[in-house]
Amino acid sequence: MYSAISRIMARQIAPSTASPALKMSAVKPRRITGRMFSVQASLPRFPVAPLQQTLDKYLQTLRPLVSDHDFRHAQKLCEDFKTGVGPLLQTKLEERAQKHTNWLSDWWRQVAYLDVRESCVINSNPGVLFPKADFNDLQGQLSYAARLIAGVLDYKVMIDTQILPVEHLGKAPLCMMQYYQILSACRIPGVNTDDWVCFPPDQPNPPRHITIVYNNNFFEVPVYDSENKPLNTTQLRAQLEAVVSQGSSQGPPLGLFTMENRENWARAYKNMCKDEVTKSSLESIQRSIVVICLDQPNPSTPDPRTTSGHQMLHGAGSQLHTGNRWFDKTIQFVVGQDGVSGLNYEHTSAEGPPVIHLMDHCLEYINSGKDWEAAGNAVTPRLLTMNLSHDVENSLNLAKENIDRMVQDLDLKVFTFEEFGKNFPKSQRVSPDSFIQSAIQLAYYRHHRKPVGSYESGSIRMFQLGRTETIRSCSSSSLEFTQAMLDPSQSNQKRAELLRRAINSHKQYTNDAISGKGIDRHFLGLSLIAQENKIELPELFKDPNFVFSKTWRISTSQVPAKSESVLFFGPVCPDGYGFCYNPQEKRILFGISSFKSNDVTLPAAQMCELVADSLRDMRQVMESSVKSSL
Ligand code: COA
Repeated sequence: MYSAISRIMARQIAPSTASPALKMSAVKPRRITGRMFSVQASLPRFPVAPLQQTLDKYLQTLRPLVSDHDFRHAQKLCEDFKTGVGPLLQTKLEERAQKHTNWLSDWWRQVAYLDVRESCVINSNPGVLFPKADFNDLQGQLSYAARLIAGVLDYKVMIDTQILPVEHLGKAPLCMMQYYQILSACRIPGVNTDDWVCFPPDQPNPPRHITIVYNNNFFEVPVYDSENKPLNTTQLRAQLEAVVSQGSSQGPPLGLFTMENRENWARAYKNMCKDEVTKSSLESIQRSIVVICLDQPNPSTPDPRTTSGHQMLHGAGSQLHTGNRWFDKTIQFVVGQDGVSGLNYEHTSAEGPPVIHLMDHCLEYINSGKDWEAAGNAVTPRLLTMNLSHDVENSLNLAKENIDRMVQDLDLKVFTFEEFGKNFPKSQRVSPDSFIQSAIQLAYYRHHRKPVGSYESGSIRMFQLGRTETIRSCSSSSLEFTQAMLDPSQSNQKRAELLRRAINSHKQYTNDAISGKGIDRHFLGLSLIAQENKIELPELFKDPNFVFSKTWRISTSQVPAKSESVLFFGPVCPDGYGFCYNPQEKRILFGISSFKSNDVTLPAAQMCELVADSLRDMRQVMESSVKSSL
């Protein structure tokens, strides 16, 4: 990866007083000049799948999950839907698709993110843990953070000048709009629904500062000089020194608010905004390019990687780092004093891949030794004043209790499976992703002895403004395979045959989902169009089997990275697990979560062991079947 700034010095952008915040539907480049968007207009539109196809596929995915009786009932409801209100809803959805670049994207943003009232932390924002770096004091922390910020600025040039290469999935080019929305962006709490704003680079007077949080104090830190040239590493380091010297005493732990449920936070936010100075401090955070949290060291624990995972996912509570966060910010990096670093991102505008590309660029940049020549002098960092009323202070105390309860309940395990990586499934000519998904199915089945609704995110960025589609990872084939693994009368030859069938079935579903033939977004569209037209929700959507099939007790995502970084998120239902993995050539990094308060699910560490056992056993089954057929 090259240094973008060394090739293109920052464009001169005339300062002006106005700096419009754009809502997401308005965030697009004013002019398309670079290769980043060169294929954007030619990407296909996200289709509305044929009704019959979706219903057939739904029944296929339901089959392993329910009894014969319930399945027959579901078949009847599908038939009723097809001969009843289904075609009307389908026509209305197709009409919407004619009028929108992407019929789903605005709805998705609302229902999947902004309308959700529970905390976005654990439930939505993923955390990412970077490889441990070699420093263990404040000086090392500041040097590392300065290099990290330089890496962000270097990457930002590629976004601003639109020279970022188009991302591909296989051979297919992907929509790049998410890259345009990850910097200078923020979620804003509202009592009924939230907002999300972005200050894109080609609007007048784009943001030229970052936010640094240190000892719960929030600082506006300019990272460009008065000519809009980016500061180099030495200058950024000096800015960080200035922050540390001003922020030695603890500020109020305002970051806790951003982990609150959205309604509580919105009420406190409204109160805070009554004070004009505080309002403008909050706006400074919202406008900033990214937030950088400088954390104190973690207490020593037997499993420091998992401890750091908690630090990235939720800040580890009011007594540790949660007050030193702004979880509404689209991207916030975290750098500890003990060589630990990572990030947390707010999900409204983007999935993992753009964030992970930014991260990989920064991690490569940190160690590259690259830098650019010094800019002119920059304005000194400014402590953002927060005047808090008694009401706000009371809400903050309440927030503390709510947050610590959530933090206590989340069980997480960060671990690396070192015995093989993508290389083994590739050597067997099967998809590594489908292989890992089969291992997760087996791990779950081994303990719970039943198949459940299983979600994997599949990218639909092959379409304009595409986000994700659900890959339903549990299938009749995966169930047959997991049952055979537990059945001592089955030969390894047979198990291997069933495993290959399960893997191929998963791969087929993946290919369908990413090419617009999934079912979950279509069903969502049909139910939202019914709601919009005040048409009663069809019986099919109220059927407990339907609801059961999309209660994701297994919620998974593959987030590959070049670096040995790992992403994680919380389970999406009380008796569920969150599984995230970064498959590398010779190892697989996992982040697995469950809730401690749930007495059905296993502790995350035990689930990790089951996943590792499953991967091992699957390799053994495949290898022994090859040997016996020789
Ligand atoms: N034989 C040999 N090699 C194979 C193979 C086979 N039968 N099938 C696949 N491979 C190879 C691929 O060529 C690829 O090679 P590479 O490592 O050189 O790139 C590798 O194995 C990985 O392929 P696969 O495991 O099948 O996964 P994928 O890369 O196609 O990814 C998804 C599958 C579902 C993860 C992907 O389609 C996707 O949607 N990703 C985005 C998910 C997302 O948005 N997550 C974030 C949520 S926040």
